[in-house]
Amino acid sequence: MTAQLNPRGDVAVLVPAAGAGVRLGPGAPKALRLLAGEPLLVHAVRRIAAAPSVHTIVVAAPATEVEAVRAMLAPVAPVTVVSGGAERQESVAAALAAVPAGPEIVLVHDAARALTPPHLVESVAAAVRDGHDAVIPVLPVVDTIKEVDATERVLGTVDRSALRAVQTPQGFRRSVLVAAHRSAGDALTDDAGLIEKQGGAVMCVPGSELALKITRPFDMALAEHLLTTGA
Ligand code: CTP
Ligand code: MG
Repeated sequence: MTAQLNPRGDVAVLVPAAGAGVRLGPGAPKALRLLAGEPLLVHAVRRIAAAPSVHTIVVAAPATEVEAVRAMLAPVAPVTVVSGGAERQESVAAALAAVPAGPEIVLVHDAARALTPPHLVESVAAAVRDGHDAVIPVLPVVDTIKEVDATERVLGTVDRSALRAVQTPQGFRRSVLVAAHRSAGDALTDDAGLIEKQGGAVMCVPGSELALKITRPFDMALAEHLLTTGA
């Protein structure tokens, strides 16, 4: 059944999905690869659309797949599909430019985090609504982390209690994200990094283990397992 978005919602979600998926090995662009019979992007969009505050979803698809992605998502939820760029940041900028007037909270969410639960979308949006300009979901770091030199010789042990692993969706007051992208220089792997570079405050909220980024074949196997156990 096609999901309905909330016309009174205050949240737009940008979904960069234009990456190749090189680390997953040879095959289709990652967002289009099948997980339990459905493309990763379908899993991701279905969960975003289930979050009650979401007014708009904009997907940045691989340039050659825009029409195919539109057709694929039409039965899932009403989404706008634009052509992504060569770098993730360009894909996010293209999606941001397609957000209509209205939503004042913008979330950026990787298609590769296909099992992210709707409640995480809501909790990030709620923290922006509460007055934080930039919000990221995080998990504590569980491994011991060492700093090494170019020869792999250990320089020291990093204090892990002060470290966080960062997920998406990352949430922003719309005007703050627009300004950050306008003055963006080097490409970064996350959007909050643009705000940090410009001296803005970024706040953490608890992330979710289900928001893991599907990057390597092992992650696909883990995600399949999680789906069969109810994610
Ligand atoms: N992405 C994008 N446009 C790009 C590169 C990445 O929209 N030019 C998106 C991916 O589709 C993904 C998210 O950004 O949803 C996070 O990127 P990543 O996990 O690195 O995905 P890929 O770039 O596809 O994977 P790889 O780096 O292994 O090629
Ligand atoms: Mg990549």
